[in-house]
Amino acid sequence: MTSTIKPVGVKADPRLSGRAVKRVAFDEGTLATRVAELGREITAAYLDGDLLVLGLLKGSFIFLSDLVRQINRPLQVDFLVASSYGDGTVSSGTVNLVYDPETELEGKDILLVEDIVDSGRTLNRLMTILKERKPRSLEICALLHKRIAEGLKFEAKFVGFDAPNEFLVGYGLDHAENFRHLPYIASLQ
Ligand code: IMP
Ligand code: MG
Repeated sequence: MTSTIKPVGVKADPRLSGRAVKRVAFDEGTLATRVAELGREITAAYLDGDLLVLGLLKGSFIFLSDLVRQINRPLQVDFLVASSYGDGTVSSGTVNLVYDPETELEGKDILLVEDIVDSGRTLNRLMTILKERKPRSLEICALLHKRIAEGLKFEAKFVGFDAPNEFLVGYGLDHAENFRHLPYIASLQ
């Protein structure tokens, strides 16, 4: 008999509206520990310059808000909005820029913060657009990386975790706009 592990408490989580999760991939404590480490890595990597942390909405909003509080140097925050998935769980392939940051990017050290790298199409497209704005440096920080992307033109300098090739929700990640508010990351049934 095959059975999936259902950690105690998750099945009864009222935030899931009755939907079963297959398993918790990263719990709250694991996320907090790794985000603090990433904050230290980023602090050590930017010794001078004007750091602009650019969050890719909506998926990065929780990760970004935890991360910037672990970066121990001056910085500014702005956001980008791209859309690629619609309501599905499979990338549609087209990446549109829906909101462009108002902050001047030229001469800044830009850290693009992404929730998860899946096909890598979003990053390929956004990095190309951002490079044209002549930042002093441009790096990627991704909380999760599925390591399945082929033809990735830009690799993430900072990665929280390698992720299983499953559809993940929580800690900012959604399925059809639901489950972003889960404090842990789970894979859907
Ligand atoms: P990519 O362009 O295929 O790399 O897709 C990146 C974007 O797709 C991420 O920023 C997420 O918003 C979304 N995405 C990719 N994989 C997942 C997943 O497992 N759960 C939820 N969203 C995902
Ligand atoms: Mg999404």
